[in-house]
Amino acid sequence: MSTQTAEATQYGSVPHGGQLVNARLEGREAEEALRESHGLPQVALSTRTLSDVEMIAIGAYSPLDGFMGEADYRRVVDSMHLANGVPWSIPVTLPVQESQTRVLQGARVALAYNGTPLAMMDVRETFLRDTRHEAQHVYRTTDEAHPGVAALYGESEWVAAGPVRMFAPVPDAPFPGFRLTPAQTRQRFAKREWRTVVGFQTRNPVHRAHEYLQKCALEIVDGLLLHPLVGETKSDDVPAAIRMRSYESLLEHYYPQNRVLLAVNPAAMRYAGPREAIFHALIRKNFGCTHFIVGRDHAGVGSYYGPYDAQHIFLDFPAGELGIQPLFFENSFFCRECGNMATQKTCPHPSEAHVTLSGTQVRQMLRDGQLPPPEFSRPEVAKILADALHQG
Ligand code: ADX
Repeated sequence: MSTQTAEATQYGSVPHGGQLVNARLEGREAEEALRESHGLPQVALSTRTLSDVEMIAIGAYSPLDGFMGEADYRRVVDSMHLANGVPWSIPVTLPVQESQTRVLQGARVALAYNGTPLAMMDVRETFLRDTRHEAQHVYRTTDEAHPGVAALYGESEWVAAGPVRMFAPVPDAPFPGFRLTPAQTRQRFAKREWRTVVGFQTRNPVHRAHEYLQKCALEIVDGLLLHPLVGETKSDDVPAAIRMRSYESLLEHYYPQNRVLLAVNPAAMRYAGPREAIFHALIRKNFGCTHFIVGRDHAGVGSYYGPYDAQHIFLDFPAGELGIQPLFFENSFFCRECGNMATQKTCPHPSEAHVTLSGTQVRQMLRDGQLPPPEFSRPEVAKILADALHQG
C-alpha cells in the first residue's frame, strides 16, 4: 500500500528550503582551492565540526550552505526558525578562539582537521554566543552532566560564520560504501520507484522494538532508509563499526532487500531530545524521506526529557510546515501473552508479560556471557554484540 496517489511524479520529498545545497568542489576547482588554502589563516575543526562541514557540503543541512550567522543563530535558539522563516531547531556554529576573531573578520579561511585543510569559508561575521541561554533553550537544561551541554560548554563562546566549500573528503572516513549523499539516496529511491520513504534514525543496535516500528511503518510506505548516525557519540554507546555489522546481518536475515536502503548519517549526536528529533527529521527530508519515525525518548539521554516530549514538539509547527510526516510510536515490547511485538495501544496484558531490557541491562548480560533473549534481540544481532564485547 502506498500513501501517495499514482499521479505523483516525484520519488521522495522536496529538499528543505526547496533545493539541495552542493558545497563540494571537484576536479580542477578542488585542486585550486587546496593550493589556495595553504596561504590562508587556518581554523581548526573538531571531530564534531568536521561532521558539520561534511553535512553542509553534501547538502544534508540544506538550506544551510555554511555555518550560521548571528541572526539565524538567535532565531533558531529562541524560536526554532532561521531568520528567513524556514524551520530549524539546532544551531550549527563554528567555534573559534577569541584571539583569532580580529584576523578572521572578512577573511577567507581554511578549515583544517588535524592540520589538513579540507574546506574554505568566507567569514561574514564573528560573534559571541550565550552558551547558557543556548543550553537552556536547545537542551532544556544547563546541567553540565548532560553530554550535549558538556560538549557545548567545552567549546569557545566565539564563533565564525559564512559559506563553506569543501575541497577534500574527510580523511579515512569509515563506511565508504554506505556514505551516500542526499543526491545519491534520492537517486536510489527513484531507481526503486519509491514514492514514499520512511527514515529511521538510530545510534544503537537495532533490536526487536526498533524492527517493529520500522516494519509497521513499511506497511504504509514504499521503502525504508535505515540511517544510523555514525558521527561522534558518547563513549558508552555501542561503536558505529559494531552497529554497522549488526545492521547488515539483520537486514540480510529479516528484511526484504528491495524495500530497505542502509546508509550512514555522518552527523554528531547532540542528545538534545525533542529539538534533535526535529533536526533529525529535517536531515532525513534532505536525504529524500517523506516520513520519519519518532518513538519513545527519541535522541534522549538520562531523564532529561519525558518519554514523548520528542513527539509533542512536532505540534509546535503548523501542519505541513516541516515538509516531512512524523510517524509516532509508543514504547514497544514483546508480549509473552500476545506472542508478538506490541505497545500499550495494542496489548491488554500487564507489564510482567512484557520483555523489556535497558541498554545497561543488555551490556551487563553480554559481559556475563549471556545473550539477550530472542524476544528482545535477533540472535544474529546478539551474537555480533557479544563477540565484539569479548574481542574488545
Ligand atoms: S536515538 O538516536 O533516538 O537516540 P535510538 O537508537 O535509541 O536512537 O532510537 C531510535 C528510534 O527508535 C527513536 O525514534 C526512538 O524513539 C525509538 N525507540 C527506541 N526504542 C524504542 C522502544 N522500545 N519503543 C518505541 N520506540 C523506541
